[in-house]
Amino acid sequence: MSLVLGLKCKECGREYAKEAAYVCEFCFGPLEVAYDYERIAGQFSQDVIMSRPLNLWRYRELLPLDGDPTDGLQSGYTPLIRADNLARELGVRELWVKNDGVNFPTLSYKDRVVPVALSKAKELGFDTVGCASTGNLANAVSAHGAKAGLQRFIFIPHDLEAGKVMGSLIYQPNLIAVEGNYDDVNRLCSEIASKYRWAFVNVNMRPYYTEGAKTYGFEIAEQLGWRAPDQLVCPVAGGTILPKIWRAFQEFERLGLIPEVKTRVFAAQAETCAPVISAIHGENDIIRPVKPKPLSESVDTSLRIGNPADGPYVAQAVRSSGGWGEMASNDEIIGAIQLLARTEGIWTETAGGTTLAVAKKLIEQGKIDRDGSTVVCITGNGLKTLEAVKDRIGAPTTILPTLGSFEERVLARSA
Ligand SMILES: Cc1ncc(COP(=O)(O)O)c(C=O)c1O
Ligand SMILES: [Zn+2]
Repeated sequence: MSLVLGLKCKECGREYAKEAAYVCEFCFGPLEVAYDYERIAGQFSQDVIMSRPLNLWRYRELLPLDGDPTDGLQSGYTPLIRADNLARELGVRELWVKNDGVNFPTLSYKDRVVPVALSKAKELGFDTVGCASTGNLANAVSAHGAKAGLQRFIFIPHDLEAGKVMGSLIYQPNLIAVEGNYDDVNRLCSEIASKYRWAFVNVNMRPYYTEGAKTYGFEIAEQLGWRAPDQLVCPVAGGTILPKIWRAFQEFERLGLIPEVKTRVFAAQAETCAPVISAIHGENDIIRPVKPKPLSESVDTSLRIGNPADGPYVAQAVRSSGGWGEMASNDEIIGAIQLLARTEGIWTETAGGTTLAVAKKLIEQGKIDRDGSTVVCITGNGLKTLEAVKDRIGAPTTILPTLGSFEERVLARSA
């Protein structure tokens, strides 16, 4: 018997069957997967988890499939790195970096949510999948969908970085660049999803897709030695991952896998598009959609969502955990990308720069306790956003192919 009971409206609690549905017909609230926790508790334990392969499906009882997973068998279980050099620089005691910039195969946290959505889409009988994306999701649906043999319609804003465009094209999907921003793309995808029987991973498959983000939180708890951190800083775009990390810790606590969760959760956005941070600062859960600043003024593109689907749930999770949120300027984002590279040898993209910049700010503000344990969520890879740093990191020293030239241009100048 399945451990997944069905879908349930997050607002009014009405129950729905396990279909490609995402919004409550009565109150328009989002639908969420409901589990039979009592039965899960009887068969799920630390030992069961640790006996399984190192991928995101080691937590499968808390993921929404009825059958076996068919995708992402090499995805997830990314490194949690003790960041002592960075900790010293920031003046904190215990700092960790969870690095999804090396997730398989497309180097972002989207390699978690997409396998869950595609495995479910196949269970439900779909042969065509799609998404609305700021770039990383497009890469993940393109790649995982290729491996799964699915038809793919991928919608992106027309002005993304080259790395993200090519990072989709190489897998030969139908890649559609929409003359508009992400919010326009998303609206269009909702219309297409209601007309064609396609599984849009972050539209009509959204309840299943978002569950995949919990695995980022499950891994952190397991990798910390079966405990949740005192503090966690997480980027926010559509608002998927932050509330799901929070949920992951709570599910582990409920199942007795970790002690009581006292984590304070902090949200990070870029100044150029920060609707969720504005709500947090205004101390309410109602998100006022914003028009993102023009691309010419924005370093970050991954988090550039003006009307986030799950924004209110980010604000709720942050508030109920006793956390806070901050935004980072373009210069702070680039500085943080360089800081992480220089101290820990990790090159993250602009979303990671935003997250670390915000973590630094919250430490300086005293909102993050320097004596507590802190996890910084790094969710994407710097190779995809070369444009952000290319004019800031200098150039190689060019020499002639002679020993004399090496000594003159390199050694003499660095002496
Ligand atoms: C690298 C990266 N990190 C974080 C996010 C946050 O997304 P969300 O808030 O929708 O989970 C995104 C969204 O596209 C992303 O690309
Ligand atoms: Zn409802």
